Amino acid sequence: MKKKVFVAREVFDEASSLLEAHFEVQSNQADTVLDAEALAGALADKDGALVALTERIDAPLLARCPRLRAVCNIAVGFDNIDLAACTAHGVMATNTPGVLDDTTADFAWTLILATARRLTEAERYLRDGRWQRWQLKQLLGLDVHHATLGIVGMGRIGQAVARRALGFDMQVLYHDPNPVAPEVEAACRARRVTLDELLARADIVSLHVPYSAHTQHLIGAREIALMRPSAILVNTARGGVVDDEALVQALRAGRIGGAGLDVFEREPALHPGFLELANVVLAPHIASASARTRLRMAMLAAENLVAALSTGQPPNLLNADVRRG
Ligand code: DGY
Repeated sequence: MKKKVFVAREVFDEASSLLEAHFEVQSNQADTVLDAEALAGALADKDGALVALTERIDAPLLARCPRLRAVCNIAVGFDNIDLAACTAHGVMATNTPGVLDDTTADFAWTLILATARRLTEAERYLRDGRWQRWQLKQLLGLDVHHATLGIVGMGRIGQAVARRALGFDMQVLYHDPNPVAPEVEAACRARRVTLDELLARADIVSLHVPYSAHTQHLIGAREIALMRPSAILVNTARGGVVDDEALVQALRAGRIGGAGLDVFEREPALHPGFLELANVVLAPHIASASARTRLRMAMLAAENLVAALSTGQPPNLLNADVRRG
């Protein structure tokens, strides 16, 4: 008899076909975000699940899903999954590392350039019919070339952002608890510094850390106060790494130059302050959203699910200490 899996959000046909070749598949075709009750109901008789960052996988849910053996996230970040609870319930958890690094780095750069050069503000100015004449002092921005880029979190995505800075002749500083290999530092022309030094020196601060209890509000009022008055902050990592209230206050008071944000503390809800501010560029968590990369993420998650339930050896297992089988 085929094992049963639940696909919690809409995926590409290619991923559905792969799963259907191995399992009896039930899908949330409506692509709604299921509440905990509905998710528990859907998973109660399932052996595996394909989920996204919108699904919270925790101990109370797992206690109601006795057959569940694998939860495969369609994301590299896995702060929606309680790994210890998965391990305690014998559930393998996986993510999708590696396939979205360059696409996310491209988008960090999209936000860096758009924020530094005030692109969305300029477009609104045009669309509102306010452009009357060319002016020397119109919509003046921040030069990105030869500026200092500060990268917080020098993992795969942070490194991909740093490599792109070479083309802008930038000085790159990074902060990470673990230094990267000397050859990586050399290739990116990057130097490791403390977080406080990075914040004080960078013209552009780009965040690339996972969300956890350790990185909750890593950038709060104290850290923002250390930044240069003209500096911009870019977040393509996770909401909650930045204290949104502190950021809104700082932007309102002109304590920093601007912010480019793809992720938010209570997304999809936005701090209303962001909507009033001209010096922020806002995006709805789309840093990895190129057609090719989102397909690769869905396929990798589906491949993890197939491997987890057929061999107990998914390629991207997060909790290696889990009891399998
Ligand atoms: C991830 O993979 O963690 C992204 O945030 C999802 O787009």
